[in-house]
Amino acid sequence: MDSATTLLDVLRRTTLSLDPDLLRVFLPLVALISLVLFLHQRDPLKQYPGPILASKGRSHVVIHELHRKYGPIVRLGPNILDLDVPELVKIFYSTKAQWKKTEFYHGSSSIVDGKIVYNIFSQTDPGIHTLWRKPISKHYSTNGVLPLEPHIDNVLTEFCTTLESRYPIGFLEKGCDFNGVLHAAKKSTDYFAAVSQIPVLDYWLDKNPVHRIGPPSFGAAVNIALQHLVDRSQGTDSSYHDPAQPDYLDKFIEVKKSDPETVDDSMIISYLMINLLAGADTTAITLRSVFYYGIRDLAVWSRLQKELDGIVEDKTRPVSWRDARSSPYLEAVMREAIRMLPGVAMNLERYVPEGRLVIPSATSTEASKDQDQNQRFVPAGTIVGLNPYVVARNTSVYGDDADAFRPDRWLKGEEEPEAAYQARLAAMNAADLSFGAGARVCIGKNLALLQAYKVVATLAVRYDIELANLASRWRVTNSWFPRQEGGLEVRLKMRAVGH
Ligand code: HEM
Ligand SMILES: *[C@@H]1O[C@H](CO)[C@@H](O)[C@H](O)[C@H]1NC(C)=O
Repeated sequence: MDSATTLLDVLRRTTLSLDPDLLRVFLPLVALISLVLFLHQRDPLKQYPGPILASKGRSHVVIHELHRKYGPIVRLGPNILDLDVPELVKIFYSTKAQWKKTEFYHGSSSIVDGKIVYNIFSQTDPGIHTLWRKPISKHYSTNGVLPLEPHIDNVLTEFCTTLESRYPIGFLEKGCDFNGVLHAAKKSTDYFAAVSQIPVLDYWLDKNPVHRIGPPSFGAAVNIALQHLVDRSQGTDSSYHDPAQPDYLDKFIEVKKSDPETVDDSMIISYLMINLLAGADTTAITLRSVFYYGIRDLAVWSRLQKELDGIVEDKTRPVSWRDARSSPYLEAVMREAIRMLPGVAMNLERYVPEGRLVIPSATSTEASKDQDQNQRFVPAGTIVGLNPYVVARNTSVYGDDADAFRPDRWLKGEEEPEAAYQARLAAMNAADLSFGAGARVCIGKNLALLQAYKVVATLAVRYDIELANLASRWRVTNSWFPRQEGGLEVRLKMRAVGH
C-alpha cells in the first residue's frame, strides 16, 4: 500500500522537537499585545463586563459565576462574548451555517509535511466542511451505528471479565494507558484549550514550520490509525478484524472507493483520528458523571437498577440497545448527568455574520421590541457563542434547582398536566447544547449514546456499585473537555445474575 506507507513516513517526520528558542515566540507576542492595547481604544464591545482572561482549567465555573453576577452577556476577550441566552442556540448553531466557526477550532488540526491539515471538526469553511462530512454522515446516524453493537458488546464483555478476574488487549487488558496514547491526547487538548484563546499563536507554536515547540503531537493516535490502515490493506489484521463485522475503517475505505475525489488515504486517517480523539474523552466524561452523580444518590441508583431489572431478561450478557432505550429512567439519569457536566464545556465560538446580532432582551415583548431601550446590538465580525455548561444551568429553563442533580426533571411530574410537561421538555431540549447543534452538531452523538447507555445499563444490572468514600469529590480540569479526576473510588459486588 504505497500511499499509506508514504504518509507514514511523512507523519514520522513530524515528531516533537522541544526547542527552547523562545525569542521566536516572544517577539510576535509583544507585537500582539501592543496590537490588542491599540485596538482596545476603538472597542465596540466596551460596554460588556468581563475579565480579559478567565482562569484556566476552571473557566466553565468562573464564567458561570460571572453570568450570575453580570447577567446574560459576559465578555471573554477583546472581541468575544459569552452569552447565556438559550434562545440563541437555534440562531448561532443553525443548519444554515452562515455563523462560521472561528479560528479557535484550528488548534485541533494536525500538521503533515509542514502543512496544516484540518479535519471535519476544525474546518471552518462551510463548503469544504459539508464536502467532508457528507460521505460519512450516514455511518453515524442512528441506523448507521446500530450494526456496531456487537463490537461494543465484545468490549463490554471484556471489560466485565477484566473487572471480575483481572485477566489481562489494549487499554483494558493492561488496565492502564499502555502506550501513552491517552496521555498524549490529554496534553494535546490542554494545549488546544490554552492556545485557542489566541489562535494565531498556534502558528508560532505547534504549527511553527521552523521549530515546532508545541506539545507532543497526536502522534500515538496517528500511528494507531495508520497502522490499522496499513494492516487492513495488507490483510494482516485477521486476528482482530472480521469482514463480516465491518468497522468504521471498512466504511471509510468504502467511501474512498465511491467518492475518490473527496476521500483519499489522508482523509481516512483524519476520519479515524476524529473517532479516536473526539469520541474518547467526551464519552469517558459522560460515563464518569453518570456514576459520580448516580451512585451518590441511593434513591436514584436503586430505582434505576429496579427498572432495568424489570426490562432486561438475560442478565449475563451486555444489555442490548433496545432494552437500554426502553428504560425512561435510564434516559432521565443519562440526560441529567450530561447536563451537570457536558463533555464539552467551553464557548462554541461563531462569528456574527454580515448585518448584526440583536440580543433578545429578557424583558422585551414582540410588541415593545422596536422601541426597547434595552435591546443590545453586536456588530458583524464579533465572536459570540454559548457554553454548553452555562446554558445547561440556566435557571429560567431548569428552575431554581438547576445546580442540583435531579433526574426526575426529565420526566413528567405526578401532578403535572401533559401539556405543561411537554412545554417544559421542549424548553430543555431547545437549550441543550451538550452535543452542539445545527450544521456542526456532533457527528458522534448516536455512537456515544449507544455506547454510554449500554455501559451504564450493563454495569447497573450486573453489579452492586457504591462509593467507597462519600465525602470524596472529584477535581475537574476544563481544557475544552472538562476531565474529572478522583472522587469515584467504588466498591463493586457481583449481583446474583443469570436467572
Ligand atoms: C458524550 C460524548 C460526546 C459529546 C458530549 C460530544 C460533544 C460535542 C460537541 C459539543 C460538539 C460541537 C462542537 C462545536 O460546535 O463547537 C461536537 C462536535 C463533534 N464531535 Fe462530538 N461529542 C461526543 C462524542 C463524539 C464521538 C463518539 C465522536 C466520533 C466518533 C465525536 C465526533 C465529533 C465531531 C467530528 C465533531 C465536529 C462535527 C462537525 O463540525 O461537523 N463526538 N461534539
Ligand atoms: C437564562 O436565560 C435568560 C434568557 O432566556 C436570560 O435572560 C438569563 O439571564 C439567563 N440566566 C439566568 C440565570 O436566568
